Amino acid sequence: MATGNAVKQMFSGIASRYDLANRLLSFGLCVGWRNRLIDAVKKRKPRRVVDLATGSGDVAFALRKALPADTTIMGYDFCEPMLAIARVRAEKEKVALTFQTGDCMHLPLADESVEGVTIAYGVRNFEDREKGLRELHRITQHGGTVFILEFSQPQGWFAPLHWIHVRCISPVLAGLLTGDFGAYRYLGTSIAGFPNAEGLVQELKKAGFSEVSYESMLFGTVALHQAKK
Ligand SMILES: C[S@@+](CC[C@H](N)C(=O)[O-])C[C@H]1O[C@@H](n2cnc3c(N)ncnc32)[C@H](O)[C@@H]1O
Repeated sequence: MATGNAVKQMFSGIASRYDLANRLLSFGLCVGWRNRLIDAVKKRKPRRVVDLATGSGDVAFALRKALPADTTIMGYDFCEPMLAIARVRAEKEKVALTFQTGDCMHLPLADESVEGVTIAYGVRNFEDREKGLRELHRITQHGGTVFILEFSQPQGWFAPLHWIHVRCISPVLAGLLTGDFGAYRYLGTSIAGFPNAEGLVQELKKAGFSEVSYESMLFGTVALHQAKK
């Protein structure tokens, strides 16, 4: 696992091209995966939501559109250049969203203060995943839900194709686009080192969540976990 400082530095370097690279590398599929997350949150009707590892705020903006106006939504990230992009967008689009600095290893949030926690493509980057999942559990209210959208382990015939895409094609394409080849080599390494969907279920239960379920997308390439406290 990379250190928090290395992750922060890496995202600082690619912040301005991050959204574009994402769309390109996933052939636009990331929008559909994100929308599955938003639909899942909408069904639970939380009144106070935080989007962790919010980056440029992609999930937070989509939540703002989907949830009632009186739902409080805040985004947290530890990478200032990513947050700066989110804040500029909020101002430009005149959207009521607040973005604050916060490290998922020790969040500036009180115990059991949030009803819905979303985190997309963030958990994989945690320096200490066990500590981070416990922190997510700490801030979640009883009866609240944590939604984790994350890369997982693809199955069957799709697995070698995915390996080629992530290990060979993505680093070159995204490297040319962002000027940072290393950041997208890290993407492949971090996915390979991440547990499969069942493995993450066990880790979430160990962190204290009682009901944990998941749905897999694109042959298991991505998984959406829901963990209830
Ligand atoms: C792959 S991006 C995902 C951004 C956004 N959630 C999205 O879906 O586009 C990962 C983000 O996680 C943030 N991150 C990684 N570890 C973090 C931590 N411990 N605390 C806060 N943010 C973290 C990075 O700074 C980066 O902005």
